[in-house]
Amino acid sequence: MKIIVTSPSFGKFNPDIYDELQSEGYEVVKLIPYDRQVMLQEVVDADAIIVGLETMDEEIMATGKQLKIITKHGVGVDNIDLDAAMRCGIAVSNTPGTNNDAVADLAFGLMLSVARSIPDANSNLKEEKWLRYDGNSVWGKTLGIVGLGAIGKGVAKRAKGFSMDVLGYDITEPTQEEVENGINRVSLVELFQQADYISLHVPLNKFTKHMVGKEQFDMMKDSAILINTARGGLIDEEELKYALLNNRIKGCGLDVFDEEPPTNYDLLKLDNLVVTPHMAAYTIEAVQLTSETAANNVRKALKNEGEVNVVN
Ligand SMILES: NC(=O)c1ccc[n+]([C@@H]2O[C@H](COP(=O)([O-])OP(=O)(O)OC[C@H]3O[C@@H](n4cnc5c(N)ncnc54)[C@H](O)[C@@H]3O)[C@@H](O)[C@H]2O)c1
Repeated sequence: MKIIVTSPSFGKFNPDIYDELQSEGYEVVKLIPYDRQVMLQEVVDADAIIVGLETMDEEIMATGKQLKIITKHGVGVDNIDLDAAMRCGIAVSNTPGTNNDAVADLAFGLMLSVARSIPDANSNLKEEKWLRYDGNSVWGKTLGIVGLGAIGKGVAKRAKGFSMDVLGYDITEPTQEEVENGINRVSLVELFQQADYISLHVPLNKFTKHMVGKEQFDMMKDSAILINTARGGLIDEEELKYALLNNRIKGCGLDVFDEEPPTNYDLLKLDNLVVTPHMAAYTIEAVQLTSETAANNVRKALKNEGEVNVVN
């Protein structure tokens, strides 16, 4: 049985995973760097795909007549056409619980970086400029978490150590775990109005696209700091640029962008914006675990042992 791998991170820190799959009888084809035309040829007799951020559309799925499963090496499946997968009878799975701590760590890192201008101070001192920065406190402030899944809850746990009041919003019912982690459910409007820090942790879909736009920036405190480690499409970047340029909010930290790599340099270069290149999930520990989980998703599906972590 043939597995196509398009994710450059798959097996990056545990390369033995390729040998293991091959010794179990699987043919593993690495399509890295990704080339859509080659994919259309290779997928004809493929049984599974382990995908990173590459777009998986209906043409690919319909061409892969034997395809049983597409597994995301990660959590966000917005690059995979889930409706098309349903039509083609292909299971789509992901690797929940493998990179949530890595992302929650980076969300906190961005929060501290924006609040204390750490990247700017670092660059200036290396250019022999000894400047004074008047930062904002994180300790004891109010944090609003949008999306209380694995990552959102992880951010809340970290916030406890910073003695923060945590407001949370999610479409699901509140859980006992949230109560134990000090998360206080509020409406989305209350969250935007009351939080000093706002961190986004919802998937990108038709309901969440541009969920932070003009209306939401108008609700936020002038001193608010917005963090997005989820997906770029959650924020209307033109409105973000306006809000940052006009000091409608204090600052922002972004790991993700509408277009990646971003070309919107007039936004990227703003002083009150700290940016990282969609790297939140990439710690050695998280990537190893994500690879193991993705391989196991495929093994189970191809051995008919039941599909795990299916999202469609
Ligand atoms: N930057 C990165 O490298 C990186 C890595 C992993 C995940 N992510 C992103 O982070 C997102 C969250 O990951 P997770 O592991 O916490 O996922 P998760 O599925 O555990 O949690 C998502 C939460 O969002 C909630 N939700 C969904 N739609 C909502 C809406 N309209 N309003 C409010 N809440 C809503 C869900 O109920 C759920 O609790 C992923 O979808 C992915 O896009 C980014």
